[in-house]
Amino acid sequence: MKILITGCNGQLGNEMRVLSALHPRHTYFFTDVAELDITDREAVTAFVHEHAIDLIVNCAAYTNVDRAEEDEPTAMRINADAVANLAAAGTRLIHISTDYVFSGDEHQPCREQDPVAPRTAYGRTKLAGEQQVLALCPEAVILRTAWLYSTYGNNFVKTMLRLGREKESLGVVFDQIGTPTYAADLAQAIFTVIEAPEWHPDIYHFTNEGVCSWYDFTLAIHQLAGITTCAVRPILSSEYQYRTPRPHYSVLDKSKFKQTFGVAIPHWMDGLRRCVEELKIKN
Ligand SMILES: NC(=O)c1ccc[n+]([C@@H]2O[C@H](COP(=O)([O-])OP(=O)(O)OC[C@H]3O[C@@H](n4cnc5c(N)ncnc54)[C@H](OP(=O)(O)O)[C@@H]3O)[C@@H](O)[C@H]2O)c1
Repeated sequence: MKILITGCNGQLGNEMRVLSALHPRHTYFFTDVAELDITDREAVTAFVHEHAIDLIVNCAAYTNVDRAEEDEPTAMRINADAVANLAAAGTRLIHISTDYVFSGDEHQPCREQDPVAPRTAYGRTKLAGEQQVLALCPEAVILRTAWLYSTYGNNFVKTMLRLGREKESLGVVFDQIGTPTYAADLAQAIFTVIEAPEWHPDIYHFTNEGVCSWYDFTLAIHQLAGITTCAVRPILSSEYQYRTPRPHYSVLDKSKFKQTFGVAIPHWMDGLRRCVEELKIKN
């Protein structure tokens, strides 16, 4: 297959590039905004035709939750209008979405068919993107994920490693529950979809297994990195100056993905261990 990966300089895009080396029978086209701005419909159509693309994996997105609140039109252009350009290109599509399409008020893991109710501009634009995909591309797979981190880009793991080394104490919220997800494991899930004997267009949830709070996650990050000089204390969300409200509970039920593709998913601690080891090698 000829596979176009958009947003290749991001966390997930980079992990897709790493994993693509293990799947050499496909031809890959890795693009970010400099090579292919997905908001440019003509450019997307031309690229797909010129290179006879069979499948688009959309790793491009406007992911800054706080900035999206101040500039929803730009977030909408990238997370929804541009996604329509990809969905209308006449190829198969794997599109990545988010737990932020849900309200975060639930008390049990969200299933794919549960009612959506985004509370943020980012969530609204990502939901609009999903709706474009469903309307325009019957051959699409939508993977909703959450709490993504990687050795690439800026993310919570890297921030907590830096703060852990710089500070003697740190307050981290313990009343927001979710599942940290190693982008390398999400990339593996995408290749599971690509290499499956049959194509199964649908919406799926994919994160690592298990749940924790940001506080627990931070303790695990510091423990695995051998940071012992920073006292981490649990605080409430109300004690932290959030610019945008964050979901209290955003755990996704992954049963459908596991049953459809017959795979087990690594626990978040396992993903984190591999990421921290990888960071030690890189630094
Ligand atoms: N990060 C999370 O915690 C999280 C959680 C749930 C779901 N997700 C979803 O998972 C997916 C991957 O996230 P990620 O963390 O890997 O994102 P990321 O690191 O922010 O990467 C997104 C990439 O897309 C690029 N991009 C932005 N606008 C573009 C355009 N018009 N044309 C082409 N490329 C463009 C970005 O470039 P610039 O950096 O120059 O803008 C960046 O390189 C996204 O769909 C995101 O919504 C992420």
